[in-house]
Amino acid sequence: MFEGKTLLITGATSGIGFATTRRLLAEGARVVAVGRNPQRLAELVQHGGDAVLPLAFDLTDFARYREVLAPVPALDGLVHSAGIVENNPLRFFSLETHQRIVAINQTAPLALVAELARGNKLNAGSAIVLLSSILGPEVGIKGTASYAGTKAALTAFARVMALELAHKDIRVNCVAPGMVQTELVDDLHQLSEEALQADRARYPLGKRYATAHEVAAAIRFLLSSDAAFMTGQTLVVDGGFTAQ
Ligand SMILES: NC(=O)c1ccc[n+]([C@@H]2O[C@H](COP(=O)([O-])OP(=O)(O)OC[C@H]3O[C@@H](n4cnc5c(N)ncnc54)[C@H](OP(=O)(O)O)[C@@H]3O)[C@@H](O)[C@H]2O)c1
Repeated sequence: MFEGKTLLITGATSGIGFATTRRLLAEGARVVAVGRNPQRLAELVQHGGDAVLPLAFDLTDFARYREVLAPVPALDGLVHSAGIVENNPLRFFSLETHQRIVAINQTAPLALVAELARGNKLNAGSAIVLLSSILGPEVGIKGTASYAGTKAALTAFARVMALELAHKDIRVNCVAPGMVQTELVDDLHQLSEEALQADRARYPLGKRYATAHEVAAAIRFLLSSDAAFMTGQTLVVDGGFTAQ
């Protein structure tokens, strides 16, 4: 399905972005893999050979965007999966934490798409997928205003970008997962195993979190020509959590 296509994937070094990269490589794509972890980038190159173009880059280094993106070939798709999750409860609100979350989760995808669009790096027919979440657009969790706000912003970005880029036949959509079993969740040390188990039990399908592969499948669909008339939308992948 993706033979001859070139896609840029941020967060390619972990979790959902890593699973998406492996899936698209398996389907014949060439992937510009963006991340900071050199071992994981090397692992992707070892796996994908010439089909992987590693781009070691801190996406919050906005001043470097033009220089770093200049050598990137014309793209048929972009996935923004890079992101961080940190609590920032009102009682202990930290502006520094807030700005750190906003920089990578919200400012980076906007700056990235703007730079690629301005540089005519997005081919006609290309598709952009932004990793939102049900947390923000659909549900709230105490202490997560900074994170949830960035994920709600992405659904707004998808609508606005969809309108701005439609004349170039470029589609923009979001995938909004519930909890996904990735490093991001493994790092939630503030939750005990019992609390995690109770949380998993709230997911009607299988009483479990999604796998990264299940989310990658939804991203792959939105990138593919099967979604040729979908733009400005958010696809929820949450095992029925928000159906309750
Ligand atoms: N996991 C969940 O439960 C869940 C649920 C809903 C939505 N999401 C969203 O899905 C996306 C992927 O989540 P995940 O679980 O796959 O996360 P993850 O396993 O923690 O991976 C995060 C990725 O973001 C990259 N990244 C973070 N800061 C960066 C920076 N400043 N510059 C460049 N890259 C940076 C990391 O790259 P390096 O490691 O190379 O620095 C890593 O590849 C996130 O946007 C997240 O908000 C996740």
